[in-house]
Amino acid sequence: MSDSNNNVEIKPDEKHLVLDHNYDGIIELNHPLPSWWSFGFYGGIVFAIGYFIYYQLMGGPSLRQEFDKHYAEVRGKQEEYKKLHGGWDPNQFSAWNNPSGISAGMQVYTDNCLQCHMEGGRGDVGPNLTDDHWINTKGTPETNYTVVYNGSEENGMPAWGEVLTTEEMYQVLAYVQTFKNTFIKDGKAPQGEKVTE
Ligand code: HEC
Repeated sequence: MSDSNNNVEIKPDEKHLVLDHNYDGIIELNHPLPSWWSFGFYGGIVFAIGYFIYYQLMGGPSLRQEFDKHYAEVRGKQEEYKKLHGGWDPNQFSAWNNPSGISAGMQVYTDNCLQCHMEGGRGDVGPNLTDDHWINTKGTPETNYTVVYNGSEENGMPAWGEVLTTEEMYQVLAYVQTFKNTFIKDGKAPQGEKVTE
């Protein structure tokens, strides 16, 4: 090995990189790969082997299974949330079942329900709320709550649980309760089952 041939200049700190051959004056430096690069490269191979063994040979979960698992967790959380925030609360109802709550409820009704249930709960697209026949409920605030909260969407009743605030929900239920068994004149014909209570 010689660095004097053909005036080749090799920096002093690179001398140790010169490979041990010299072909007609052509010499070669060997710059080793940086260790971070080798680490990434060999690490990638090791990872790929592990990945292949786990997912292909040992029956690791597929993307679909992982998705379903996470989705089930999300659904569980939603259900918990609903239970926490969507459950009937008789105390809230009695807090609003008074003249001021009922008049606030009348406003909520006018803004959201009137178009289908009409003035005084006479009924049009939605059923008559003044008679003693009920389709999905027993006409009690508690059973009405479930339908108003979740809707009966395939039959045209929207879900209000995420539209109205909790207060508005109880206010409108208190207002709707004032219709019950008033048998408004010219109301929509009764629908559902007769409820005797
Ligand atoms: C787009 C029209 C529409 C709007 C708006 C609407 N409803 Fe209804 N509602 C219906 C229909 C249709 C039904 C009957 C659902 C069924 O047959 O399952 C219904 C059913 C109900 C029932 C149960 C009646 C029964 O006999 O079981 C209650 C209570 C009720 N609505 C209250 C409300 C309140 C309170 C609002 C406003 C926050 C409202 N609705 C807004 C269409 C509507």
